[in-house]
Amino acid sequence: MPFTVLVGCQWGDEGKGKIVDLLAEDVDWVARFQGGANAGHTVLLGERQAVLHLVPTGILRPDVRCAIGNGVVLDPMALLDEVRLLEEMGINWRGRLWISPLAHLVTPIHKATEVLRQQDRSIGTTRRGIGPTYEAKAARHGLRAEDLLDERRLRERLHVQWELLRSALSGQPEGTLGRLAAEAGGSAGHAQGMFDPTRQGLEELVDLFADARRIIAPLVCDVTDLLLSEDDAGRTILCEGAQGALLDIDHGTYPFVTSSNTTVGGACTGLGIPPQRIKKVIGVVKAYTTRVGEGPFPTEFHGEVAEQFREKAGEYGATTGRPRRCGWFDAVLAKRTARINGVDEFVVTKMDVLSGLKQLRMAVAYRASGTQSVAPAGAFWPSAAVLEGVTPEYVDVPGWQMDLSGAPDWSALPGEARAYVDRIGHEIGVPVRLVSIGPGREEVVRREA
Ligand code: GDP
Ligand code: IMO
Ligand code: MG
Repeated sequence: MPFTVLVGCQWGDEGKGKIVDLLAEDVDWVARFQGGANAGHTVLLGERQAVLHLVPTGILRPDVRCAIGNGVVLDPMALLDEVRLLEEMGINWRGRLWISPLAHLVTPIHKATEVLRQQDRSIGTTRRGIGPTYEAKAARHGLRAEDLLDERRLRERLHVQWELLRSALSGQPEGTLGRLAAEAGGSAGHAQGMFDPTRQGLEELVDLFADARRIIAPLVCDVTDLLLSEDDAGRTILCEGAQGALLDIDHGTYPFVTSSNTTVGGACTGLGIPPQRIKKVIGVVKAYTTRVGEGPFPTEFHGEVAEQFREKAGEYGATTGRPRRCGWFDAVLAKRTARINGVDEFVVTKMDVLSGLKQLRMAVAYRASGTQSVAPAGAFWPSAAVLEGVTPEYVDVPGWQMDLSGAPDWSALPGEARAYVDRIGHEIGVPVRLVSIGPGREEVVRREA
């Protein structure tokens, strides 16, 4: 039985968590393959809300087992916080979660490095240490989950990190890290919690990993072999993408991207599975577009319209609480992300948010202005410089007034809403199979032809 890969096809926060939770009802495994605690995947369980950052969303379904692959950057302290929250919600994660020994560890040094570089300001990163951890991986001085199994090796590797940050801080005034964190709008807690190697020694750093060694080390196993064997035995595995295709380090709007491959190939390298095993790719898009952090956004709303829409849509970051930028659905970019991911079918989320708008717009082409692009005229090209200069060409599509939440099936949706979904599928050239009409688990309809 096959692997299925689910990827976000915009700039993240497409509603992947809700859809993974829905599909997890019928799978044996859910596996994360890239990213880290920068992800925030929300699932509404009745009155309660679960936000998953590192643990695969499948954990919310008691019969599903979960794996964190080698492509993920794992913050052990964040993982411990997350499993404690799950326990408080009465969710049993023990015996259901496995971690690849090859997954790199995010350390307090990586988080402090991110603040020192001030990329939380220039790119709008989530300050979860993602960039510096992938950098350390590529530079070959990173720590991996397997290092939790051997204290001597852990200390040695932490020593390298500790020294690197200490030398980066040499010559800087005392308290530089705390000041930068506070200046960048960090809460006092964030500034106080920042590990500072000019004030704190190596042993203090090693001690921070004591709980992680005790609790996380027993979960470390060969995730690649485990998943391939489960696949051989006929079990189904859903690979849960984090972020979105346009935040991909190669195919996204560089440099305003995250540091991993968020597109489908990331599932192969991030779990260690061959591409032939992937039998289906599901793309998730919102019925409009959002982005959190800096970078180009051709269909963005501005001014009061933007604020009103954000309020109505509840568009605030699940990880950082930051207001998300909002705009019209952009079929030009979705066509590109569908193509590079080989998306077989789409899920359109948050359709209910568009209810009550008289007229909707959808970008179907770009008019370029001057900046040289290698892409054919009108097509999407992910360079930030090119995108800054494009003007979207829109089609107007009639809106609908009816509240969609609670609609029992596709045929109960107003004709305009069905036409809007069909237009999305038509523009992208890939069928839409599911339409989400509210945050709740049951609020979804299957599109019928
Ligand atoms: P993810 O990162 O892709 O998992 O998405 P997030 O969880 O960061 O953001 C999606 C937000 O939209 C969450 O608050 C979800 O509860 C909510 N959501 C998901 N689907 C729908 C929907 O169809 N309608 C509405 N109103 N909210 C939704
Ligand atoms: P989910 O999985 C939306 C954005 C950040 C920033 C850029 C780089 O919930 O969809 P990073 O901390 O990764 O170095 O930040 O990427 N970003 C996300 N935006 N959803 C996410 O995850 C994101 N993860 C990172 O805002 O612009
Ligand atoms: Mg999110």
